[in-house]
Amino acid sequence: MNDHPVTDVQITEVGPRDGLQNEPLPVSTEHKVAMIDMLSRSGLSRIEVSSFVSPRAIPQLSDAVEVFAEIRRHEGVEYSALVPNIKGMERAIQCDVDSVAVFTSASESFCRNNINTDIDGSLQRFEPVLASARDNGIPVRGYISCVVACPYEGRIDSVSVRVLAERLLGMGVSEIDLGDTIGVATPADIEQLMHEISTLLDPSEIVLHLHDTNGLALECAMKGYEMGARKFDSSCGGLGGCPYAPGAAGNLSTERLVQECLDRGIESGIDPELVAEAARLVSASDD
Ligand code: HMG
Ligand code: MG
Repeated sequence: MNDHPVTDVQITEVGPRDGLQNEPLPVSTEHKVAMIDMLSRSGLSRIEVSSFVSPRAIPQLSDAVEVFAEIRRHEGVEYSALVPNIKGMERAIQCDVDSVAVFTSASESFCRNNINTDIDGSLQRFEPVLASARDNGIPVRGYISCVVACPYEGRIDSVSVRVLAERLLGMGVSEIDLGDTIGVATPADIEQLMHEISTLLDPSEIVLHLHDTNGLALECAMKGYEMGARKFDSSCGGLGGCPYAPGAAGNLSTERLVQECLDRGIESGIDPELVAEAARLVSASDD
């Protein structure tokens, strides 16, 4: 699955999942598929397509099975989905996903609000998911939300993020993804967090998932880059947010991140015009 050119950074496009999970107006399956097909042509090597979660929790993504069935998969692109439990994992396997992501939080309150269990409970749910992933040869990303702050608890200590990352790695996740869920991180916060997590993982292995509520997501990403981070999540058109994180705005925009990389001579392999076009396809669905 790897005919993509060697790049300096790896960007996962999360717009179809993180972007659309928060859309107040329904987006049709047809528009989602058109958006993902356009993203597949843009040079991205990873696209988070949807979530296999409770349709009552996230009705916007209840058509995940149909979306996976209808997208045109490109050679060299990894198509992934979120799974909160073994039920989600079974649906993901039926859809022949390339990888999955489990998700928990450094904040107990956010964890409860988002997935109706505490942090320990979330890890227990992941055990059968990870066993099934091993049996089926599917890589598992481990998201940690609220790595800087929580909408209910305020500031989060980076040591607790490191401890949780260590537990997830011990369980067999292949990648740790650090979510600034409510988009309040400053470059100084990212510097401190990267220092802490780098005691566990090489910085180039850490994924930064930044929301842009305070308008500093791009600066935070570039601080991460300076500290050795090479993996980033972003969303076409800056779509995004989480219904269980009040106040959270969109994700870092993929077009802006790609343009910043171009300006700095950092190779991303992505055409920002095609990414912007994919975002326009979704906004056109509101017409
Ligand atoms: P629960 O109520 O504790 O689960 O919800 P349950 O096992 O008791 O099941 C309740 C109902 O949901 C049952 O249906 C299950 O069958 C169904 P009923 O019998 O009542 O009709 N159900 C499912 N249906 C489809 N697929 C499934 C599934 N599991 C149960 N996988 C649960 C727990 C986790 C399921 C629920 O809270 C949930 O789905 N939450 C989703 C939350 C979510 O998707 N949040 C957004 C993603 S996280 C995020 O955005 C942050 C991130 O971007 C990083 C960052 O920014 O920080 C990743
Ligand atoms: Mg997010």
